[in-house]
Amino acid sequence: MEIFLHRICGKTAEPPVPMLLRRCTAEEAPAVYALQNEVRAAMPHPEQFVPDTLENITTYVRKDLCIGAWQGSRLGGYLIVRFCGQSEHNYAAFMDVPRTEWEHWANADSAIVHADFRGNGLQRLMLEAALPLFPGRITHIGATVSPENQYSLNNALASGFAIVSRREMYGGYDRYLLKKDL
Ligand SMILES: CC(C)(COP(=O)(O)OP(=O)(O)OC[C@H]1O[C@@H](n2cnc3c(N)ncnc32)[C@H](O)[C@@H]1OP(=O)(O)O)[C@@H](O)C(=O)NCCC(=O)NCCS
Repeated sequence: MEIFLHRICGKTAEPPVPMLLRRCTAEEAPAVYALQNEVRAAMPHPEQFVPDTLENITTYVRKDLCIGAWQGSRLGGYLIVRFCGQSEHNYAAFMDVPRTEWEHWANADSAIVHADFRGNGLQRLMLEAALPLFPGRITHIGATVSPENQYSLNNALASGFAIVSRREMYGGYDRYLLKKDL
């Protein structure tokens, strides 16, 4: 999906700059991992984003879905969606969804946008680009967001997610659990 950036480095981009939202390949997993680490290192509250290993990210890129926002060869953002099925990592497991239904749920796992490209609604646009690539069985998406992470929370609510509950996740982090029906 091609989009146009209207803001770059916090300034108006005139003319708007094209960016391609597309599925990342396994060879691009190190770029995803590097962007995660760069952006998290610059976060004033890094506890709002639980980082992942290169090994796990490589698995998600291969077996799940990772949408990258590419400006030429530069990765400016990504969204990882996981299809956890019967695994205990499925957010459906934390929402009292019967186990027989879990295969119909996807986890919106993580989203990152480099500060240079913020303000273009990329988090929401990457979800839009991801939806047509979901397996047909998926009818719901689960997500977690730190209550303090106003940018991510606003984007999730604007994308049609609703807050289900607030609880500890990932070994002690305060999180809203959200869901979206497709
Ligand atoms: C959450 C995140 C992906 C949103 O990025 P985005 O989609 O580009 O954000 P939006 O386009 O909705 O931005 C809306 C406004 O908030 C601002 N904004 C967004 N994220 C910001 C941040 N982390 N810090 C300061 N301002 C931010 C934008 O500049 C924009 O301002 P403007 O309206 O004055 O232009 C991004 O902030 C990010 O990568 N955060 C760190 C990782 C994270 O918390 N991920 C979510 C949990 S998995």
